Amino acid sequence: SRDIYILAIESSCDDTAAAVLHNDKLLSNIVATQEVHKKYGGVVPELASRAHQQNIVPVIHQALAEANIDKKDLSAIAFTKGPGLMGSLLVGTSFAKSLSMGLNIPLIEVNHMQAHILAHFIDEEDFPKPTFPFLALTISGGHTQVVKVSNYFEMEVIGQTIDDAVGEAFDKSAKILGLPYPGGPLIDRYARTGNPKAYKFTKPKVDGLDFSFSGLKTAVLYFIQKEVKNNPNFIEENRDDICASIQYTIVEILMDKIKKAVKQTGINQIAIGGGVSANSGIRTALKAGEQKYGWQTYIPKFEYTTDNAAMIGIVGYYKYLEEEFTDMGVTAQARYKF
Ligand code: KG4
Ligand code: ZN
Repeated sequence: SRDIYILAIESSCDDTAAAVLHNDKLLSNIVATQEVHKKYGGVVPELASRAHQQNIVPVIHQALAEANIDKKDLSAIAFTKGPGLMGSLLVGTSFAKSLSMGLNIPLIEVNHMQAHILAHFIDEEDFPKPTFPFLALTISGGHTQVVKVSNYFEMEVIGQTIDDAVGEAFDKSAKILGLPYPGGPLIDRYARTGNPKAYKFTKPKVDGLDFSFSGLKTAVLYFIQKEVKNNPNFIEENRDDICASIQYTIVEILMDKIKKAVKQTGINQIAIGGGVSANSGIRTALKAGEQKYGWQTYIPKFEYTTDNAAMIGIVGYYKYLEEEFTDMGVTAQARYKF
């Protein structure tokens, strides 16, 4: 078999990342997370693109060094074309084009959302791969999608959020509770020792397999405002119960749609990805569903669930096999459907 070495670059949001793969095996995976956004409580696009510009060379150097690979041995450059923040995408796209031109090797464009899904195919002994067809649930601070995956590049979005992403629901609720950004992991942590049924938040009514999370954020805001008026220490005194109740509601919203998707498609393999798939409530509910509903859950290695370049590299590898190369005239695309 052939030896294919892909250098992959990801810069769609606030992580500058580079990875090197040897066929479907990962040799290195470097992520520079931008701390600059923390004090603003969310990603500031202008600051993100500047930080990418600063980080991209050192990150790529480190990825090549850790993989112990010389640039001249690379087979192709894969990069994130979109979706994402335009200013951020431009940094990775321009860099990838230049590198491909300088090294005289093929360029491969990658859709970030497809990459979150195909991350499951990075070869890892302890992480079994789903078989086609399967349902992919991609949940992060930027996306919430249910995708029917029939083959590597045969995918159909069958449900998605009509407003906020699920990660935003966590982060915005956390912000209302005075927790630092990103608050998702903190809600998860406090929820572990709280009562999930302490407070009830209404679930949105959305048709089909689509999601809505903006109503929950508003419900949490009104609830907290009302309670704090009566008791200024309400949040401190009931933090764990509040977090557990918010998380319970989010998990219920997701599970309702997954059950529906499984029923509707007859597909009972569910592969999750995106930063929110780290959430213990979601993991527990999906695992419990294996017994209850007879489905099979796939959760990739943690470093492949958040934004990373390894997932861009695995898509690059499969596209390389198909000789699906990209023309040098390619431009970044903030809204990029598949
Ligand atoms: O995939 P990711 O690193 O970046 C993108 O948004 O694309 O996802 C980050 C999101 C944030 O909203 C963060 O709060 C959330 O994932 N998150 C969690 C947990 N870990 C990360 N949300 C809930 N529970 C967690 N354990
Ligand atoms: Zn992402």
